[in-house]
Amino acid sequence: MEPFTRADRLITGWLTLTKLETGCYHRQMVGTDRRPLTQDSKAPAKVVSTWSGQAREDAVQRMFTSIAGVYDLNNTLLSFGLHYHWKKITASFITPVGRGTALDVGSGTADLALLLESRMGPKGRVIASDLNYAMLAEGLKKIGGKGLTDKITCLQASAEHLGFGDNTFDAVTTGFCMRNVGDLPGAVREIRRVMKPGGRFVCLEFSRPVFGWLRTLYDWYSFKLLPWIGTIVARDHTGVYEYLPASIRAFPDQERLCQVLRDAGFRQVSYKNLSGGIVAIHVATK
Ligand SMILES: C[S@@+](CC[C@H](N)C(=O)[O-])C[C@H]1O[C@@H](n2cnc3c(N)ncnc32)[C@H](O)[C@@H]1O
Repeated sequence: MEPFTRADRLITGWLTLTKLETGCYHRQMVGTDRRPLTQDSKAPAKVVSTWSGQAREDAVQRMFTSIAGVYDLNNTLLSFGLHYHWKKITASFITPVGRGTALDVGSGTADLALLLESRMGPKGRVIASDLNYAMLAEGLKKIGGKGLTDKITCLQASAEHLGFGDNTFDAVTTGFCMRNVGDLPGAVREIRRVMKPGGRFVCLEFSRPVFGWLRTLYDWYSFKLLPWIGTIVARDHTGVYEYLPASIRAFPDQERLCQVLRDAGFRQVSYKNLSGGIVAIHVATK
């Protein structure tokens, strides 16, 4: 039996998918969960990190749409290339299987989905899901460039409403997405729902540096230098590089994120700090 048959049927029925010319599946925004903005859509980017729900989601999506074309380059510049190293370690927490099905939530330009592919076996399947069409379209170029379009499918979907049936995936990853969702506990519950019992969830996210001196240096870099580089070097006018440090500060630290995962019903929750806790990988089992 082909993997995803049940899930594909389910999505087609529920979410009205159309296959666009670029090959990304597109979830039409048909309105059941779309509410009008309640906050000022022109508010400063760092204020967005204090919002929740639909207004936050809309503001964040506007930023990612504007930077999609330069996202990979800026990421490499601003993390000194470290993000590739962090993502490789994240993928290494997923146990290789013979014929598995994996989901990468908030996949963006699909780096983690590409790393997952080889771990799901020659007949495995990976879904790269993201709310943002522009980011996925960039990811699809990379997937196509590696000749993997038959193994990795792009799907436009919210982390809070994934649209798959219960117990669908052997493994789920997410990289730098959870900080952006409007309802973190809701997204974590939704991820757990679509996972098979015993499946592993691996979450890569910015966290709290463990050393005082590193926190001071990091705060200076992220609140002062990063927005400056973003504006002057990367020519960003969306404010995303002001939103970034503010959203990191507002996100649960290592221990609090463990609690969010436990509250959602995950067990065997643990984490590994990388680069002194600038980022952390949380691992949890359904
Ligand atoms: C910082 S990027 C990370 C992309 C990629 N995972 C990586 O590690 O390079 C965050 C991604 O999360 C997506 N995102 C934000 N909120 C989301 C949501 N509620 N549902 C799905 N994706 C979301 C954004 O569109 C964006 O592509």
